[in-house]
Amino acid sequence: MKISKRLETIANLIPEHSKVIDVGCDHALLDIYLSQEKGCECIASDINQNALDQARYNILRFHVKTVTPVLADGLEGISIQPEDIIVISGMGTSTIQHILENQSLPNRMIIGTHTDFEDLRRYVVSLGYKITEEKYVEEKKKTYIIIDFQKGDASYTEEDYRFGPILKHNLRYIENEREKVLEIMEQIPKEDPDLLRKKKILKELEHLKENV
Ligand SMILES: C[S@@+](CC[C@H](N)C(=O)[O-])C[C@H]1O[C@@H](n2cnc3c(N)ncnc32)[C@H](O)[C@@H]1O
Repeated sequence: MKISKRLETIANLIPEHSKVIDVGCDHALLDIYLSQEKGCECIASDINQNALDQARYNILRFHVKTVTPVLADGLEGISIQPEDIIVISGMGTSTIQHILENQSLPNRMIIGTHTDFEDLRRYVVSLGYKITEEKYVEEKKKTYIIIDFQKGDASYTEEDYRFGPILKHNLRYIENEREKVLEIMEQIPKEDPDLLRKKKILKELEHLKENV
């Protein structure tokens, strides 16, 4: 079965025969792939009834027996074991925070977001996790960041939180971020205080680029 490069990148981080809780599964294609290719057992949950109906249809269509669809807001009502792996992808950081709040979380969570990576890193690290892998995915002119968090201690610098302790060594990522900041700066009026902030980020990116 073929899945998007972004979902395949997530799947590649998950060991065979894992128990996975995929929050916001939508079509459940990741779970079906993990069941077929890696013998994983998955809970595919979504808050949206239409999404879950689509997930159920796909589970039947691909004849997989180890994916259980669940209608739920985040992790509500889902039993979590320490060895489970939570996957959350395709959501904004504030929704992710709402999902993880006041939960007894497992040892490992793989999270992909399209907004506020810095806030996401700070938040999940504050829950007692360290960052063990970061992937940068470019697909159909869009870019995605996927972060693998595992329980444990680590100390991070401001630079680590902002650009990622692993991604800050990724030249492609640094160059693309630099381009994006330059584009935004061109549109900001000279008197706008945000211009100064962007100039500072640009300097930081240029420093990282020189040291990759
Ligand atoms: C953009 S889709 C991403 C689907 C899939 N995870 C992926 O990466 O391709 C986001 C999904 O998250 C679901 N969602 C949003 N908030 C949620 C919540 N609080 N609990 C569970 N699912 C949620 C939406 O209904 C939607 O199906």
